[in-house]
Amino acid sequence: MTQQRIVLGVGGGIAAYKAASLLRLFKEHGFHVDVVPTAAALEFVGKPTWEALSGNPVTDTVFEAVDAVNHVRLGQQADAVIIAPATADLLAKAAAGMAADLLTNTLLATRAPVLMAPAMHTEMWEHPATRTNVETLRSRGVHVLDPAVGRLTGRDTGPGRLPDPEAIYAAALRLLAAPGASGAPAAGVSPAQDTPGASGPLAGRTVVVTAGGTREPLDPVRFLGNRSSGKQGIAVARVALAAGAAVRFVAAHMDEPAPEGVELTRAGSALELQHAVSEAARGADVLVMAAAVADFRPADYTEAKIKKDDDGGAPTIRLVRNPDILADLVEARAAGGRAGADLPSIIAGFAAETGDGASSVLDYGRRKLQRKGCDLLVVNEVGVDRTFGQDTNDATILFRDDSDPVRVAGTKDDVARAVVDAIVRVGNR
Ligand code: CTP
Repeated sequence: MTQQRIVLGVGGGIAAYKAASLLRLFKEHGFHVDVVPTAAALEFVGKPTWEALSGNPVTDTVFEAVDAVNHVRLGQQADAVIIAPATADLLAKAAAGMAADLLTNTLLATRAPVLMAPAMHTEMWEHPATRTNVETLRSRGVHVLDPAVGRLTGRDTGPGRLPDPEAIYAAALRLLAAPGASGAPAAGVSPAQDTPGASGPLAGRTVVVTAGGTREPLDPVRFLGNRSSGKQGIAVARVALAAGAAVRFVAAHMDEPAPEGVELTRAGSALELQHAVSEAARGADVLVMAAAVADFRPADYTEAKIKKDDDGGAPTIRLVRNPDILADLVEARAAGGRAGADLPSIIAGFAAETGDGASSVLDYGRRKLQRKGCDLLVVNEVGVDRTFGQDTNDATILFRDDSDPVRVAGTKDDVARAVVDAIVRVGNR
């Protein structure tokens, strides 16, 4: 199988450092990568980093290695050109068809699919000039991702963050596997759904991930909900995709769109989620329950909107227990039989805990792990300002077999990577 070739174009923005993680993902999955930074990108991350990580020479100019005719050769040989970060300047140059340096020459010379992952301040992303450039590029078939929403370089937040390297990698795989993409898919290149040939520690495995918070309907317009944003489940799904898994994603209410490349099922309430998970879990290898499932639901659902009484009173809402989806699946697996054998051999739960005077967060976590019987439990400390909707998430992973807990401090992506690593390790035991 011939090795697939990626040109990784790096624009001059602070997010250039994140392209190093993207480069690693391509290298770990066996791609040949030529990094083509702009001169501005080299102000942020220097040539030695790109050369060491890619194993190939790096230049931003057409006046080096002229005998190799790099300014057309790189684009012609590429199976895909991936630009991350794509700055406002780079989008403008690409839209105008300029050929000012090696990267813009490569963009003009290539017939391969092009993926651009923008990163810039919100004002620049929303500027009419950038909007027009993005539209022009998309109309020509260039895949321009929407930037992620979140903290930007300074204290400001909004749309403009570079999407996570895993998300860009997953989008690149889909592009390479799409009909009409140049070259036959090599190992690791098929989309995760058609796992044959996918590489990575979860290649050939099916992972079910639940995410978001359930909404328990009260009447046609009201529900009881929770603060879960879905970000942690989205991060786990992306890392699992990047590790080569086919991902079945069961989404309750989330603040963000589901990741691309997953098989998506939507679920509103806990009962809907239970149904969707029991379907998705059949024949899967791993289940990660990152969803915040409501423990209770209103006992009665009224078909008509609940109205105020004239006497100034308020209704009493009676609640009933929802099934514990995770514990029930663990129990069904333990019960064995054909139905039990078909369930994932690794079931992971998440626990949002607050400590109190009597017990610490970890004590509660250990008890929950025993009660639920899952194979691993990711324990987070929560409070109104902690974890929910935040990008960072300190966690401890506890294991049923009593192996040493793993502590992770960092972003939800860091936690997701640690969870997937732990799953791979449990699977290899
Ligand atoms: N979970 C579930 N079904 C429920 C509640 C929770 O499957 N009805 C799963 C969650 O997806 C999570 C794990 O169980 O993976 C722990 O969730 P958590 O809310 O911390 O646990 P609870 O069982 O609700 O415990 P507590 O009494 O502390 O709320």
